[in-house]
Amino acid sequence: MADSQDQTTLKALDNQAVTRVLNLYAGIGGNRKLWENVEVTAVEINPEIAAIYQDMYPNDRVIVGDAHQYLLEHYAEFDFIWSSPPCPTHSRARYGLGFHGKGYDAVYPDMRLYQEILLLKHHFEGAWVVENVQAYYEPLITPIPLGRHWYWANFRIENIKVRSTGISGAVTSSGKVLHAKSPAELSSQLGIDLSPYKITNKRLLLRNAVEPEVGFHILSAAQGTHYNTEGIELVAMDLFSSTDLLESAKGGI
Ligand SMILES: C[S@@+](CC[C@H](N)C(=O)[O-])C[C@H]1O[C@@H](n2cnc3c(N)ncnc32)[C@H](O)[C@@H]1O
Repeated sequence: MADSQDQTTLKALDNQAVTRVLNLYAGIGGNRKLWENVEVTAVEINPEIAAIYQDMYPNDRVIVGDAHQYLLEHYAEFDFIWSSPPCPTHSRARYGLGFHGKGYDAVYPDMRLYQEILLLKHHFEGAWVVENVQAYYEPLITPIPLGRHWYWANFRIENIKVRSTGISGAVTSSGKVLHAKSPAELSSQLGIDLSPYKITNKRLLLRNAVEPEVGFHILSAAQGTHYNTEGIELVAMDLFSSTDLLESAKGGI
């Protein structure tokens, strides 16, 4: 069990306590899609992506800027903080297919991930969660695995059943793509329609989104809300296609 869970296992906040939410590295807001009755401030560095997020969630306050710096300066203003710092330098994709398979240069793992976990753990008094891909190395701080991601949090996150739909296809040991889902298929699985927007690489944007049901599950856990998890079907996107792997390995997002 994660050490962050050991200490504050049942630090569930009552519902009313969690109203001011900070959504860092917001992307297109997959994690945010099913959140209700919260005031969300979202921080996203890419103006095009931020504009899409703002269009999808017009009531959220969207800040175009550096989430890492924003966290440091503003963490005390929120009840709940979700952070999804950039994952390429931690990913098994870049390390396996990129570095070993394609001869990519070695890169330092981006330590903003652990900086944020430690800052939140030791300074922030509200509920928090940091999300990243499952890394190619042993994690420096024990996470909670859920679907294709690792989560670090100061509240209990129940393990919920993940229904695999083979959303992004599988890769054989020789690297052959068995099936790669199109943006339309990903959109339909996530319930996020990017067709009105002119932006390149929609597929990667969709691939980077946290499953909305997982975002809902985690915010509910932070709020101490009990609901029937059997009613929630989670979509697993844990099978990467080699296209996805190399796209993220190039460090796009
Ligand atoms: C993995 S995606 C986030 C996915 C999001 N949590 C979701 O569920 O849809 C990471 C996002 O962080 C953004 N980003 C990267 N570096 C950033 C920074 N320094 N500050 C703010 N946003 C950043 C990227 O443009 C990208 O949209």
